[in-house]
Amino acid sequence: MTAQAVEPLISVSHLDHHYGSGKLRQQILKDINTEIVEGEIIILTGPSGSGKTTLLTLLGALRSAQRGSLKIFGEELCGGSSRTMQKVRRQIGYIFQSHNLIDALTVAQNVAMSLHLHRGISRKQARIQAAGQDVEVEDAVEEEAAEEETVDAAAAVEEAVEEEIDLGPANMVIDKYLDMHGNLMPVLQGIQEEYGYIPEATVHLTAERLNVYSSQIYGVLTFYAQFHMKPRGKYIVRVCMGTACHVKGAGRIGDAIKDHIGVGHAETTEDLLFTAEYVACIGACGMAPVIMVNDATYGSISVQKTVEVMDKYIEMG
Ligand code: FES
Repeated sequence: MTAQAVEPLISVSHLDHHYGSGKLRQQILKDINTEIVEGEIIILTGPSGSGKTTLLTLLGALRSAQRGSLKIFGEELCGGSSRTMQKVRRQIGYIFQSHNLIDALTVAQNVAMSLHLHRGISRKQARIQAAGQDVEVEDAVEEEAAEEETVDAAAAVEEAVEEEIDLGPANMVIDKYLDMHGNLMPVLQGIQEEYGYIPEATVHLTAERLNVYSSQIYGVLTFYAQFHMKPRGKYIVRVCMGTACHVKGAGRIGDAIKDHIGVGHAETTEDLLFTAEYVACIGACGMAPVIMVNDATYGSISVQKTVEVMDKYIEMG
């Protein structure tokens, strides 16, 4: 007796995926091939940035697959119509990684954010789908979608007052790029240059003036590591936690920094003098353990030397 072939529920073949365009174009997935049959439990591992989330969102029909083949329940999603995507999505439920949810958004806005990635879905449709309304639209949802257009501007002003942010520099940056195609990235980069980070109020201001969703902007801000949503210190202290540094005591160096200046990974001192960051290999393994303060590199560093380096920057103020 021969065993019957089991049809895979998920079949992925030569799947590629990119983000961005032009100089910012970045390949995230390359030639992914896999099959998953009913009852299988799959554990997806890999370093940060290796494309796990991208793959999950493609499998969840939350993004359009770009190249190759991606079949879920026999439906081809690569180049599939929005109807096909919606049909598959309904059978899957929803994929969430809690750390990907944006606190500033409601549940519906979080869901709508992924829908915005699909061209041809209007703001209103995205909100309606996120609210689970497929055919008949309830008045309240419609009204809410219409109101959203005016919320960003008011929110920007309110937050600017609360955060004591002067929106003038942000407005000037936006003015500069207003008529440019693909202006979101240069606007955000310009705003970060002005303020040192992206204040919440400027997100809403940008959304209003560029006529995009705030949630789209949060999507960009959380995807690109170059953007920061909190004020950062004058001195960025990077502690390498790569393998070579780790075995040579990088943990102790991190602890010494925390003891001395009072901040650990991704934290900033209250006086905005230091931000500490634990990072992966910075390419100076021969000098492990290594720290960097802004552009200066300190290799073969001991706990004692770390304290001295920190004191030097405290003195410089
Ligand atoms: S592991 Fe630290 S520099 Fe390479």
